[in-house]
Amino acid sequence: MKVTLAIETSCDDTSVALVRQDGFVLGILSSHQNEFHQKFGGVVPEIASRQHVMQFFPLLEKLMAEAQILSQQVDFISVTTSPGLMGSLLVGVTAAKSLAFAWGKPIVGVNHLEGHLMAPFLWDPTHTPLSTTVENSVALSVSGGHTEIYFIRKFGTYELLGKTRDDAAGEAFDKFAKMLGLPFPGGVEVDRLSAFGNPKYHDFPRGILDENKFETSFSGLKSSAQRFIADHADLTRVSDLCASFQEAIVDTLLQKLELARQKTGAMQFILTGGVSANSRLRQKSSEWAKANHVLLLIPPLRYCTDNAAMIGWVGMKKFLLGQADDIHVKASPHNL
Ligand code: KG4
Ligand code: ZN
Repeated sequence: MKVTLAIETSCDDTSVALVRQDGFVLGILSSHQNEFHQKFGGVVPEIASRQHVMQFFPLLEKLMAEAQILSQQVDFISVTTSPGLMGSLLVGVTAAKSLAFAWGKPIVGVNHLEGHLMAPFLWDPTHTPLSTTVENSVALSVSGGHTEIYFIRKFGTYELLGKTRDDAAGEAFDKFAKMLGLPFPGGVEVDRLSAFGNPKYHDFPRGILDENKFETSFSGLKSSAQRFIADHADLTRVSDLCASFQEAIVDTLLQKLELARQKTGAMQFILTGGVSANSRLRQKSSEWAKANHVLLLIPPLRYCTDNAAMIGWVGMKKFLLGQADDIHVKASPHNL
């Protein structure tokens, strides 16, 4: 069975993984940089690249040692080439090229968003996916940089149904958290505080735009939250406010899932990307799926946020389809 070493450095998580031909994750190690970006309230690109450089080789050495895999047992290297922060991508791509050259192995460039779409199909000793086929699924990919809904005809054929017109859902969570002075990344903290709050405390606008279109918008919600916070200088009900804000995002995303169900007739849905780690979204979407008798695949938390295993799985599929790149493969900040 083939094995790939996968590398993900597109934003602020340095991640390496070993993935087998059948999607089994032999090992994964990730290192986030939250403490370095915390005081700036967002990812600082120069700091992110520098941290990737510092963290990459120690992580790789540890991964190979823990998984007891030698370089000779790795068949090829998968690496995120787009989209992302250019400096961050370059660290991973340069490391991948160096290893490919030194080990005499092929290299496969992977689109980060395609990685998120395939994340629910990874498996390991503690997780078995509910389905092994991606054909004719609808995927809602919600992360810090993207909020997109696709119809996936088959692996490699993705029809974009709609996306956000402005902020991504994760970005909205992060900006809202910053307004409240909560730690970065904000989505995690808003999720945690919301567990103690009342989602009916304040009725925030839903970012739905047109009920019949897949396009979303979160800028109105953001401005509304900004006004609310400015008008309530003595705000004490932070958990209630978080729960209300979170509910607006979750409702918006659920409305798009339901629209996709009605318009495409799909029976299998995928919820993926960093925001799919959100506990309220996981709960409400699971209830929605049950009520509508459709299969909903949500990756376990470790494969929701940025990770190299999802990159390895896409790399593996491309490699087996004869789509390997060569040493000249390039990084790009754009969604190629
Ligand atoms: O997929 P990801 O790790 O990176 C990108 O490709 O952007 O997503 C990161 C985003 C951040 O905006 C973060 O706040 C959000 O995912 N996030 C969450 C939760 N965990 C991560 N948002 C809401 N609830 C969570 N539990
Ligand atoms: Zn991501």
